[in-house]
Amino acid sequence: MPDTTGETGTQQPARRSFARWFVFGAITTVTGGLFALREYFHSRPTPGMIIPGAAEIPVGGSAIFQYPTPSDPCVLIRTGEDAYVAYSRICTHAACPVFYQASDNVLACPCHGGVYSVADGRVLQGPPPRALPRIRLEHRGATLFAIGVTQT
Ligand code: FES
Repeated sequence: MPDTTGETGTQQPARRSFARWFVFGAITTVTGGLFALREYFHSRPTPGMIIPGAAEIPVGGSAIFQYPTPSDPCVLIRTGEDAYVAYSRICTHAACPVFYQASDNVLACPCHGGVYSVADGRVLQGPPPRALPRIRLEHRGATLFAIGVTQT
């Protein structure tokens, strides 16, 4: 069958080569853009929320605050001179509010006996199916900020 496209045998390989380089260039550009966006969002400072009065909590003491919204109760525990941990107070079993039980250094749920570790929020005892969500904290000078929630 005669060639009706008007292309010679040498034009088709050149066109294929151009198409390959075009696709390669497009993929490289898109990938580079995605990496640049990722770097942009990772390098931005996290806004966070000041936890008022954290410095006044005695070592071994605790305080209640709300984060990330006013209807999300959390507990902050001062575990050392410059060491704090914070968790959601919502028990992962049936949503009762947990409290810090300083005598045993645990977070306890009064509803069904759930007990959580202060160190990492994991379940130590009782029916809760998973650890307490942890509030990520950051010191900025003398001020303590809540900067995010880590679901475990
Ligand atoms: S609600 Fe906390 S143990 Fe059941």
